[in-house]
Amino acid sequence: IFSLPKESGRVASSLYKYQGFWHPVRHLQGIITCQRHFQARGSDFILITTPKSGTTWLKAIVFTLMKRMQYPISQDHPLLSKNPHDLVLFLEHRLYVDNEIPDLSSMNSPRLFATHIPFSSIPKSMKDSRYKLVYLCRNPKDTFVSMWQFCNKLRPQESGTHSLGETFDMFCRGVSMAGPFWDHVLDYWKESRENPHKVLFLKYDDMKENPTVNLRCIAEFLGCPFSNEEEESGMVEEILQLCSFGNLSNLEINRSGKLSSGEDNEAFFRQGKVGDWKNHLTIEMVEKLDQITEQKLSGSGLVL
Ligand code: A3P
Repeated sequence: IFSLPKESGRVASSLYKYQGFWHPVRHLQGIITCQRHFQARGSDFILITTPKSGTTWLKAIVFTLMKRMQYPISQDHPLLSKNPHDLVLFLEHRLYVDNEIPDLSSMNSPRLFATHIPFSSIPKSMKDSRYKLVYLCRNPKDTFVSMWQFCNKLRPQESGTHSLGETFDMFCRGVSMAGPFWDHVLDYWKESRENPHKVLFLKYDDMKENPTVNLRCIAEFLGCPFSNEEEESGMVEEILQLCSFGNLSNLEINRSGKLSSGEDNEAFFRQGKVGDWKNHLTIEMVEKLDQITEQKLSGSGLVL
């Protein structure tokens, strides 16, 4: 039977603090089991994000990129019949569920996983191996709005909604899924500066602005750059089109299907834009978030 570690502390109704970060209990149980049992391989690729930073998009892109020989873009492509979250599983709540220890040893290399686990909590075997991490973050204002909307969407109707103000105050105090948001981002930012061959640091906002440059960059980093033939055949654009918000969000599977873990697929597709915070946050909220961001990132060289 799972028991919470002594150093974890509970807040509100469902988040627990563990090793300096807040997690839903379901994720926390998985994190601890994963920390104890995950055996990394030097060839593993891990996608890491802060929640609501574009994980669904990154999973779709990297899956398509890495498996483009096995699954050429066609009517049978797995993304057309499965949500990206069922193709690239989260370590902490899709593979390591509660006390379950999955057998990952039979998976072919390179294995591809995803996680929201903060850098300080990733399993030791991952830190010891020649891992490659692709980290994606997003500006805190859009991340916050997206998270607030997502949490309300997944909440049972009878439980009512989380108020914007209350959720905002908690986010600013660092109390959010895998929060404090800024600490999560900064730890991976620092690691990417120290070990650029191990950690590729990406921003959602940049990916939206310049998707082709970012896709080529991911391909180079993962060791599967586009050949001249692939470039000439328009493969970069094809992958981006397949994984675009417009395409994925309109697929039947993502409009009405459910993940094998039970969540509605459509909850992962809302607007897919930069700047929706302008429609939700007050001037005071914007000032407060900007101030925290400036203070937290000061001297790091990172701008969000
Ligand atoms: P919004 O709520 O701002 O629309 P995550 O995948 O980490 O849960 O993040 C979800 C956010 O990414 C949502 O943002 C969602 O709409 C957006 N998103 C999902 N798929 C996307 C895609 N293919 N391209 C761009 N954004 C996408």
